[in-house]
Amino acid sequence: EKGGYDHFMLKEIFEQAKVVKDTLMPRLPENQNRVVLDEIKLSKDELDNINKIYIVACGTAYYAGLVGKYLIERITRVPVVAEVASEFRYRDPVIDENTLMIVISQSGETADTLAALRLAKQRGARVLGVVNVVGSSIAREADDILYTWAGPEIAVASTKAYSAQLAAMYLLTCHIALELGKMTEDEFVSLRDELYQLPRKVNRVLSKAEKIKRLADKYVHSKNVFYVGRGLDYMVSMEGSLKLKEIAYVHSEPYAAGELKHGPIALIEDATLVIGIVTQEDLYEKTVSNLKEIKARDGKVLAIAVKGNTEIEKVVDDVIYIPQTHWMFTSLLANIPQQLFAYYVSTALGHDVDKPRNLAKSVTVE
Ligand code: F6R
Repeated sequence: EKGGYDHFMLKEIFEQAKVVKDTLMPRLPENQNRVVLDEIKLSKDELDNINKIYIVACGTAYYAGLVGKYLIERITRVPVVAEVASEFRYRDPVIDENTLMIVISQSGETADTLAALRLAKQRGARVLGVVNVVGSSIAREADDILYTWAGPEIAVASTKAYSAQLAAMYLLTCHIALELGKMTEDEFVSLRDELYQLPRKVNRVLSKAEKIKRLADKYVHSKNVFYVGRGLDYMVSMEGSLKLKEIAYVHSEPYAAGELKHGPIALIEDATLVIGIVTQEDLYEKTVSNLKEIKARDGKVLAIAVKGNTEIEKVVDDVIYIPQTHWMFTSLLANIPQQLFAYYVSTALGHDVDKPRNLAKSVTVE
C-alpha cells in the first residue's frame, strides 16, 4: 500500500503533482474565464459586503492560511487576518455579518478549528471551509466548502494536503479578485496558464530528490536550523521549520529575514545551518543581504531559489532550484525541497518518519 516507497510520507510527497492537478483543474476549465467554484454559494453581492476576512486553522493548515492571507489581501485589498484557532477562539474576536471566515483543515475534525468555526457562525459570519476529508465535521458545519482533493493522508506529517491547501488559496484569491473586479479577465487567463503548468513543475522539483538527500546527509548533524525568507517566502519557511521539528526532532526556527538582526543573529555561529528561501524578485536583494550577514558569521546557507538565478551561488553554500513561475505561486514549489529535506534528515537519523513521537494525525482534543 506504500506503492513501492519506503514510507507513506515519501509516497505522499511524490503524489503532489496529481494532488495539485486534481485540486486545480476541475475549477479552471479552459472554456470559461472564471474560477468555477460551483460548490460555493457565496454570491458576488455577499462578497461585495465583506469588509474583513479571517483565516483560521492549526499547524500546517495555518501556514497554508498565511499564504492565503498574503495573496488575498495583496490582490483583493480586503483586509485579511490569519490566526491559529487556539488563540482566535479565546480572545473575543471582532466578527459580524460582514466577516468572511475561512477555516482550513485536512481532517475536518481539529477541535480548535471546529470551535472557531462555531464561534464565527454564532456571530453571524459566513464560514467557508477548505477541507480534505469529505463529510467531516467542518465540512458539514461550514456554510460553503471548497474541497482539497489530496486523497487520504496517512503519514502524520502533512505534505500533500498542504500543497492542495495552497492550490485552494490560489483559486480563492483569483475567485474573490475576479468577483470584486480587482483582477481583469486577461490577468486571470495568464495566471491560469501558470497554474496549468504547476503539476509538471512539481514533478521537476521532485526529480531533485537525490540531490536533496545528499544535502540532508551533509547537514544531518545540525543542532539548530533557521529558516528565513521575506513575504511569501517567510510564510513558506514556517512550514519548512515545522516539518524538520516534527519528524526529525531537530530544533529549528523560522524568521522573517529582516528580523534576524533584531536578536536571533546572535545565535549564528560556525556552521549553524540557515535555509534561505529567495523566490520573490521584489525582495531578493533584501534577503540576499541578510544571507551575506549570516555568511559573515560563518553560518552555512542552503538557498531555495528560482532557476536562472546563478548570482545566488556566489553568496551561499548550496542551492536548490525551483522552476520559474508567477510570484504568487512559488510557495508550492519552494516547499517541496523542505519536505524532502526533513524526510531525509529524519530517516538518516533513524526516526519513525510516518509516526513521529508525541503526535497524532487528527487533534480532536483541545
Ligand atoms: C503538521 C500537521 C499538523 C496539522 C494540524 C491541523 O504536519 O500535520 O500541524 O496540520 O494538526 O490539522 P488539520 O489540517 O487536520 O486541521
